[in-house]
Amino acid sequence: MKKLILASFLMLFATSGAALAGDAAAGKTKSAACGGCHGMDGNSPIVAYPKLAGQNEAYIIKQVKDFKANTTRQNAIMFGMVAALSDEDAADIGAYFQSQSIAQAAPSDASKLARGRELYKGGDLQKGVPACQACHGPAGTGTAGIGFPAVGGQYVEYTLAQLKAFKDGTRSNDDKMLMRSIVEKLSEDDMTAVANYMASLKR
Ligand code: HEC
Ligand code: HEC
Repeated sequence: MKKLILASFLMLFATSGAALAGDAAAGKTKSAACGGCHGMDGNSPIVAYPKLAGQNEAYIIKQVKDFKANTTRQNAIMFGMVAALSDEDAADIGAYFQSQSIAQAAPSDASKLARGRELYKGGDLQKGVPACQACHGPAGTGTAGIGFPAVGGQYVEYTLAQLKAFKDGTRSNDDKMLMRSIVEKLSEDDMTAVANYMASLKR
């Protein structure tokens, strides 16, 4: 029954997704300016910059749009980076990074993995937290067709910063409050644990 509800919920998103037609080859050229921070193949070498390798095109397009709008997701660096990108550029760059793969899992604290895995795989029934894998995939690869982001192998520092931003509302670009309604039920320890578990996944 639970599965059925989730399936119909995901269908809702699937039908609202726009048609995507990014050209990865063109995107490779266009992403040259992004590589300085995110890595030429999307494997960012620095924890402050999220990895984009293996991230799905629909999600990247949406984030570019959101950074441009500068309302529900504000970041001074990215605001400047996306200013000159057209919709086609965003789709091409998204297609390119989607075609790349995460080279290795990110560093994680082994003592946090058990609780993190529990939350990621099964959620927390008592707190009313759903399993993260329902939307982000068992291996953290996300759900490409509907633009749910890949989260596996991402740096703990970046992931934790995003969870906190959803929690304090400084990031509010999640449609239907999908993430804000979840993180409000997570403690700081929970967020740290699950961020470490996600980092340990090689998507
Ligand atoms: C000077 C460094 C820098 C450059 C160059 C840069 N970025 Fe970023 N990017 C960042 C930072 C920092 C963040 C994290 C922002 C935040 O905390 O919300 C980010 C986040 C992103 C995200 C969101 C990732 C996620 O998982 O939600 C996308 C997509 C993105 N950048 C795309 C691009 C593209 C496309 C370009 C090239 C046109 C680019 N970036 C160039 C620093 C950079
Ligand atoms: C019902 C679907 C759903 C569930 C369940 C879910 N998420 Fe998400 N999550 C999303 C969506 C959709 C986004 C992207 C929001 C946006 O920016 O458009 C997201 C974004 C994120 C991001 C930001 C990714 C990035 O690259 O910036 C993190 C981190 C995250 N989720 C972690 C979690 C964790 C941890 C759990 C479990 C406790 C979880 N999610 C459960 C749908 C979900």
